[in-house]
Amino acid sequence: MSKFITNHDVTAVLKEVIFFAKQNNIVDLNMIDNIEIVGTNIKVSVVFPKLDDPSVGIVYNSIVKALKEKFGQEINVEVLPIAEKDKGLGPLSGVKNIIAVIAGKGGVGKSTVASNLAIALSKSGHSVGILDADIMGPSVPIMFGVEGQQPGVIEREGKQLMVPLENHGVKILSLGFFVQPDQALMWRGSMINNAFNQLMKDSEWGNLDFLVIDMPPGTGDIQLTLAQSYNIRGTVLVTTPQKVATADVRRAAMMYRQDKLTIPLLGLVENMSYFTPDELPNKKYYIFGKGATDELAKELDIPVLGRIPIKEQIVESGDGGTPIVLDENSIVGKSFIEIAKNVQNEINKL
Ligand SMILES: Nc1ncnc2c1ncn2[C@@H]1O[C@H](COP(=O)(O)OP(=O)(O)OP(=O)(O)O)[C@@H](O)[C@H]1O
Ligand SMILES: [Mg+2]
Repeated sequence: MSKFITNHDVTAVLKEVIFFAKQNNIVDLNMIDNIEIVGTNIKVSVVFPKLDDPSVGIVYNSIVKALKEKFGQEINVEVLPIAEKDKGLGPLSGVKNIIAVIAGKGGVGKSTVASNLAIALSKSGHSVGILDADIMGPSVPIMFGVEGQQPGVIEREGKQLMVPLENHGVKILSLGFFVQPDQALMWRGSMINNAFNQLMKDSEWGNLDFLVIDMPPGTGDIQLTLAQSYNIRGTVLVTTPQKVATADVRRAAMMYRQDKLTIPLLGLVENMSYFTPDELPNKKYYIFGKGATDELAKELDIPVLGRIPIKEQIVESGDGGTPIVLDENSIVGKSFIEIAKNVQNEINKL
């Protein structure tokens, strides 16, 4: 098998499985409670009105057959039937759009873009959450001014759920709540996946128009597993103007679109684009070069969603827990609001 399997792919196959009692497919009947994919192991949880019904076995076999026909006999399929009355809250059932903010390498401003984008989306009237999935540099709590706080816990239908923190109109959870910075290097991939899954599924996100994920930079197994396990609506790729960084960015872009736009790339954000001294507001100095981002956008056939200048206030506001977009009259604030608009436009085109 040349490509990895995504939640989208599995859902497409499940749409062909019919539940005869209701004369429709199991996806449109909202019978899929959860899909978990790790490599070539696929686990599908399906909700039935009653478990002691012969149709359970028929649907069970049809799912296994359909998935193996599509992805190859060597894959491992597990079907977990759940009775309607035992159904959980349906992980992420209230989340409309998951947006993953990604980068080829660390330090390009991914967390800055994710945080400001989340706030800009919230300011335009949407309900928004942000999940910091970058274990090596969980900086979202700092940028949102909630560092040191812990999420609450609530019990719903016998299940413990984490309650996200909230600030600047955005719900916030972070892998940093689980791991001390000096222990991050000792965390193995499976531990990170488990913690990530908990933050996604065992948390009370409620109804969200957008859940922005600050993804770990790069293209390792962790990124792949995180990306393939959820229905990600689109990715926003953060880059800087240096030509030398292009190879990393291209690799990240290709990983997320391996299966031709299964996870659409919404566009590029060029961070640290240029420098404008306060006393010369009409001047733009392209300190890190110019043109590489446009070339890449052309090559990948995606838009440049916006450009963010180098500005000291971005560091100060981020470190101070009040991201710069909160100052909506600032040039940078306006750029982030523009980026949020462009992200929505791109999603509407999908
Ligand atoms: N346009 C900018 N102008 C000035 N400073 C910036 C800009 N963008 C980001 N920074 C600063 O650069 C540093 C790195 O940014 P950020 O944490 O957003 O990057 P990252 O890609 O998430 O990094 P990491 O890989 O460490 O998670 C931060 O101190 C941030 O305030
Ligand atoms: Mg970061």
